[in-house]
Formats: sequence, structure tokens, C-alpha cells
Amino acid sequence: VRILVTGGAGFIGSALVDRLLAEGHDVDVADDLSTGSLANLAAARAERSRRLSIQRIDVRFPGCAELIVHRKPEVIFHLAAPLERASLARPLVDAEVNLIGTLHLLQGAVSAGTSKVVFASSASVYGPPDDVPVREGHPQRPETPSAVAKKAIVDYLHFYRQVHGLEYTALILGDVYGPRQQPDGGIVAELGTRLVAKERPVLPGDGTQTRDFLFVDDAVDAFARALDHGGGLAVNIASGTETAVVDLYERIAALAEVDDPPRLSPARSDEIPRLCLDPGRASIHLGWKPWTPLDEGLAKTVDWIREEQRAARTRR
Ligand SMILES: NC(=O)c1ccc[n+]([C@@H]2O[C@H](COP(=O)([O-])OP(=O)(O)OC[C@H]3O[C@@H](n4cnc5c(N)ncnc54)[C@H](O)[C@@H]3O)[C@@H](O)[C@H]2O)c1
Repeated sequence: VRILVTGGAGFIGSALVDRLLAEGHDVDVADDLSTGSLANLAAARAERSRRLSIQRIDVRFPGCAELIVHRKPEVIFHLAAPLERASLARPLVDAEVNLIGTLHLLQGAVSAGTSKVVFASSASVYGPPDDVPVREGHPQRPETPSAVAKKAIVDYLHFYRQVHGLEYTALILGDVYGPRQQPDGGIVAELGTRLVAKERPVLPGDGTQTRDFLFVDDAVDAFARALDHGGGLAVNIASGTETAVVDLYERIAALAEVDDPPRLSPARSDEIPRLCLDPGRASIHLGWKPWTPLDEGLAKTVDWIREEQRAARTRR
């Protein structure tokens, strides 16, 4: 199958590209390399360069739709987006990428005869939940510009399905972590980077807030399954387990061989106290279940961070 991955040079996108190439698909990557990097695709380029093409393209501009019309992908995995925390300070840029960029992509997909778009949505669309674990029918009260846009994108996807027959699946991702995630990409990468460097990180709030952490390989498996399953659905992709941030700290500190307790900061009013998603719908419609235990995923992540820091020291 010919596939386009937007954001394919990023953390999740590059892992997805590796998986799609390993399964024998032809893959085009469209990425502006703003937070992603070609280094993430180095192995894919070395091993399977004939079936991989990489275009440095910004989804905000018409070139993205032109690329789609030219390459005619059967399926588009749409992961290009600015970091959620950046959207608070720059809501206009976020909307340009998420809303205008997605519309360019959808228009291109219709013209090219693409059959399906698989979209990377986020647990942040729910806002502070009434109760956990959160099911897909829970009211959505997004509290960041990025989450507002992700919510609206699913409405657009629905519209394109109804009017143009373009199939979609929206994957509502928990906190994905793993190798290649940049320190500002999520709390596991942030804590891991600091603890491996023997710095003492500050936890947001008092650390009792819970989150739902999912290893990147498990997330990528859900994307791969969505290639031909879950049409017309938004589906939670998460571990279904709550982990307190202070518990996460202790697990990562143990792997990084750090004994110090965390430094705590005053609780922020915007911190959601509890978050975890029910992945039951994914089990029914995608045949997907999370499988990597947290400690195993964290160990792989800390090993990768250690290796990155060692390589950076050698380069200096
Ligand atoms: N990592 C998580 O925990 C998580 C959770 C929920 C949702 N998501 C979503 O999954 C997707 C991938 O996230 P990630 O964690 O891999 O982040 P990432 O920053 O590593 O990946 C995003 C990629 O998109 C590219 N990009 C950004 N703006 C672009 C633009 N205008 N045009 C073209 N490319 C652009 C970046 O260069 C990067 O390679 C995003 O849509 C994100 O919102 C991630």
C-alpha cells in the first residue's frame, strides 16, 4: 500500500514509518522538521531507501495538497502538529497547522482518491474528566488551543466522510513515551533526560496527579491496525492504567540510579488531577490492546536516553 505519513520525522511518526516499511508498504514522509529530525529516519533511510521518500514540507502550505495529488497515497497517517504546550503561547500558529493544514490535506486526499485518513488525536480533547477511566462518549471540554483544534478536526473528518466518502479513524492517544521523544515532548522524556544527566527535576504540582502512559511500540501498533479497521470512529489508545507522576519519577529515578527525591512545585491550577482512558473500544474495533509493562517501556526509554547522552558527549 502507498502511504503518506505527515509528521513522519517525529517521535511517533518515525516509529510508525519503521513499522510500515517493515510490513512492506511504500512510504512518503511529509514533515517540516520543526520538532522532528532526519536522524529519526536514519535507519529507515539506510535499510529501505527505495521504498521511502522524505519531503520537507509544511502542511500549512498548498504544497502539501499538491504532494498528495502527485503521489496519490491510498492511506494518510496525519501526525504533523506543533507540541501541545506550544499552542498555549502561539494559538494562531497552532490553528494554522492543525486546522488549515488538515484542510489542505483533506482537500488533497479527496482530489487524489485517497481512501482513508488516520488521525493522531489526543486525550487532552476530554479536558478534566468527570470520572476515570474515560470512555469515548465522555463530553469533550478541551482546555488548550491544540485540544480545541484536535476536537474540531474530528468534526471535519466526519464531514469529509459523509460528503466525500473519505474514510477516517481518529486515535485518541494517552501520554505516549519511548525512544526518540525529545525532552520537551512529554514528562517521561523530560524526567528521563534530567535524571540520566544526574540533575534533579522539578515535578509539576505535588506529583499526585495521575496520567495514562503508553509505550510508543504499542501506540504504533494501533496506527498500523487502523490502516483497515475502525472506520468512522474515534478510539482511545492508552494503557487504561493510572500512574501518579511521583510514582513515575521513582521508577525512572531507580533506572537512572538516582536516590534523591523529586523537587515539588506549587500545584498549578491547570493541572488535571486524574486522567486515564478506557481502551475497550480499541480492543473491539481494532483488535488492539496495550501490552508493554510500564517498567519495561521505561527501561527501554532510559537506555535510549543514556545512549543519546553518551553519543552527544563523544561528539563534543
Ligand atoms: N506524544 C504524545 O504523548 C502524544 C499524545 C497525544 C497526541 N499526540 C499527537 O501525535 C502526533 C505526533 O506527536 P509526537 O509526540 O510524535 O510529536 P513530534 O513533535 O515528535 O512529531 C510531530 C512531527 O510533526 C512535524 N510538524 C510539526 N508542524 C509541522 C508542519 N506545519 N508541517 C509539517 N510537519 C510538521 C514535526 O517536525 C514533527 O516531526 C501529534 O499530532 C501529537 O499531537 C502525541
